Amino acid sequence: MQSRSNPVYCAIDTVDLPLAARLIRSVAGSVIPVVGGVKLGLEFFLAHGAPGVRYAFPAPVRATGIGFFLDLKLHDIPNTVAGGIRAVVELEPTFITIHTAGGPAMMKAAAETAAAEAKRLGVARPRLLGVTVLTSLDKSDLVATGVSADPDRQVLRLASLARESGLDGVICSPLEIAALRQECGKDFILMVPGIRPSGAASADQKRVMTPKEAVTLGANHLVIGRPITEAADPALAAETIARDLGAL
Ligand code: C5P
Repeated sequence: MQSRSNPVYCAIDTVDLPLAARLIRSVAGSVIPVVGGVKLGLEFFLAHGAPGVRYAFPAPVRATGIGFFLDLKLHDIPNTVAGGIRAVVELEPTFITIHTAGGPAMMKAAAETAAAEAKRLGVARPRLLGVTVLTSLDKSDLVATGVSADPDRQVLRLASLARESGLDGVICSPLEIAALRQECGKDFILMVPGIRPSGAASADQKRVMTPKEAVTLGANHLVIGRPITEAADPALAAETIARDLGAL
């Protein structure tokens, strides 16, 4: 049974293939999934590619209904990004990330290619999410790259551009949820990392919010990594978060 209302995507940030497979199996649950999906990112994909995805996230685990977020943050000329998207649609990701700074032509090419390739293969269309201003950048970093806008304004500007260019949503920090929801409307997907269940260590995340706070502000999906993956019992940690959200 699909846990449709569970907003949590568990970040599987490792290049250890057996560990990734174990973590994914455990959050996929023995009876019902305790997360809404899992996220595999650049380090995993560069290390193991599509065969690694198929190994760590095999068909029986996919059949539990949990989502798959392929966080590649693509950024190149339109033709190359479209080619990258085309290459991964067969893995049936629920979400793929691309950089909005690649511009409208790149985003349009990615969106059109995702739709066309999904149709050709007879699979669900992957939703494309834009990365706006990386949270590792502050105002002085933007100025150094020739961007004089305030980071907050730049996030809104790039998110609007993403929406106009056919993207389905953006990745955003908890502090950006309210403004983005207002700017981009209720149907725009907001996928939010930087989430810590109350009482969890924040580690290197500087601006954190609890799952409930983020959902209340308007987040559609939450990315949570270490509070689940580094728990003694990852499935239990995820289940506790889901129960707290009323998603189980
Ligand atoms: O372990 P933790 O919950 O901090 O993991 C968060 C995940 O979200 C990681 O995969 C990280 O790369 C990603 N992320 C983030 N902050 C951002 C963007 C992405 O933590 N601003």
